[in-house]
Amino acid sequence: MDDLRDKYLTAIADVTDEAGLEALRVQAVGKKGEISLKMRELGKMTPEERQVAGPALNALKNEVNSAIAAKKAALGDAALDERLRAEWLDVTLPGRPRRMGTIHPVSQVMEEVTAIFADMGFAVAEGPQIETDWYNFDALNIPGHHPARAEMDTFYTHRAPGDNRPPHVLRTHTSPVQIRHMEKYGAPCRIIAPGRVYRADYDQTHTPMFNQVEGLALDRDISMANLKWVLEEFFSAYFGEKVKTRFRASHFPFTEPSAEVDIQCSFEGGTVKVGEGDGWLEVLGSGMVHPNVLKAGGIDPAEWQGFAFGMGIDRIAMLKYGIPDLRAFFDSDLRWLRHYGFSALDVPAVHSGV
Ligand code: PHE
Repeated sequence: MDDLRDKYLTAIADVTDEAGLEALRVQAVGKKGEISLKMRELGKMTPEERQVAGPALNALKNEVNSAIAAKKAALGDAALDERLRAEWLDVTLPGRPRRMGTIHPVSQVMEEVTAIFADMGFAVAEGPQIETDWYNFDALNIPGHHPARAEMDTFYTHRAPGDNRPPHVLRTHTSPVQIRHMEKYGAPCRIIAPGRVYRADYDQTHTPMFNQVEGLALDRDISMANLKWVLEEFFSAYFGEKVKTRFRASHFPFTEPSAEVDIQCSFEGGTVKVGEGDGWLEVLGSGMVHPNVLKAGGIDPAEWQGFAFGMGIDRIAMLKYGIPDLRAFFDSDLRWLRHYGFSALDVPAVHSGV
């Protein structure tokens, strides 16, 4: 009995994994285990022998069982300790910082412009960047032979050889949205239409792709005075102060009379400054919508009239944020974007002073 006891207690103490321990359990106290077989032999003993051997065997069985249970718990603890050691994670380690992207000044200014005009009751309209020549030209009172077509430096799309339909164009201005809106919703209306436009032109204040915001207000008695008020109201809200503007008589096929508007600025020292110097930056064209344009949009010019304007968004972004060269807007230079970009949380609204 003592030999059995020594044998199993030593083996249990020495075993190093749960599988080995289970094998020992089967070998000692399993159905056909050594100790179990000994207990079966009790039946063959005399009553006197059994009285001594019975309790002793039971005690041995209990002792081996509890040694196995204790070892099992110890092995489990060791496994857990090992996992905790291996899977340890230092949550106090500082995170790796990621640079946040910024909102491009053009996107920011689009939002600012939209907020200001929305406050004056203008809704936002949109149109395609690839236009038919009807919407980009004819409907705007620019017939095929008109010099404005050539002056616009238009990008034309390709037609297959032998296909004599007029090619589509990359819209040269946002004015076609006027026609699309009139056709769909009629008069009265008050909309702005921000978006990309294209012209083959490239220097400090011109890029082949740029952004405009079109304005259109139609009603029964809208006049040039309303146009001037809306624009001046816009400029003081946008620049946060009264800026000097210059309304110049001009000509557009789609407005009569027409005016262009410049803003006083200086270009010295690598920045643009608004409201000083003897430079002027042209920021928009405008006028009273030509009767032919109203007709093209399905509106009766005897009943309705109104104003329209087309403003260069990039130009007014340059002026407000002191950016001297328009080309940098579209270079995707990260240093420039980080310097002139805006936080995503800097959401423009009229009440936040834009
Ligand atoms: N479409 C003109 C341009 O791009 C601007 C404009 C719009 C002028 C509306 C008058 C009325 O130059």
